[in-house]
Amino acid sequence: MTQQREFPNWNNLYQERQVETMPWYNPDLDVDLEQALTKLKINSGTVLDLGTGPGTQAIALAKKGFRATGTDISEAAITQAESKAKEEGLDITFRQDDIFHSHLNQEFDFVFDRGCFHVFHPDLRQDYVRIVHNLIKPKGYLFLKCFSHLETREEGPYRFTPEEIKKNFGDRFNVLSIHETVYQGTLDPLPKALFSILEII
Ligand SMILES: C[S@@+](CC[C@H](N)C(=O)[O-])C[C@H]1O[C@@H](n2cnc3c(N)ncnc32)[C@H](O)[C@@H]1O
Repeated sequence: MTQQREFPNWNNLYQERQVETMPWYNPDLDVDLEQALTKLKINSGTVLDLGTGPGTQAIALAKKGFRATGTDISEAAITQAESKAKEEGLDITFRQDDIFHSHLNQEFDFVFDRGCFHVFHPDLRQDYVRIVHNLIKPKGYLFLKCFSHLETREEGPYRFTPEEIKKNFGDRFNVLSIHETVYQGTLDPLPKALFSILEII
């Protein structure tokens, strides 16, 4: 049976702690995403950074010329991401939005989920897959980074095997690739992660 995992109140967390100290904080574009975009020759279009947190990925993608939207359940995270983007002179849409009660009414060329899916209770996974599928244009992609079953720390988010990713997403996405990697951030050693490229069916 999957171990039940606990998560903070996200809004309190972003009110109380500096984003730079958070385990997932990575000011650079996620290297696995960068490689995937290169491989698939994607260099323009619209992207949703789902569960954007500090907004680093939306910001890095906007700097590369993508039209970026970042959403997060935490209003405090969104306020900080917005102010960082403004400081950098970037035009990014940041919105407070709970993916399970989303007000997004647009489809994106691709969605990047770096660490959001893996915080959801297993009972919510099929809702997530359906909702995210509806946010992606035909032939679009979901790039998904989540903790790997190889990660041995006790605490933290849910972990996945490649088979579990295929089982969760396979009905609505073609699973183009899944590889073992790390989750770049402030933890040492970096947590083991899976990076999946999922193409909408
Ligand atoms: C592990 S953090 C990753 C943040 C960011 N993607 C990054 O890589 O820096 C997970 C994020 O998911 C957000 N989150 C949690 N539940 C959510 C929900 N239901 N809808 C949208 N975002 C949510 C949290 O507030 C948090 O910022």
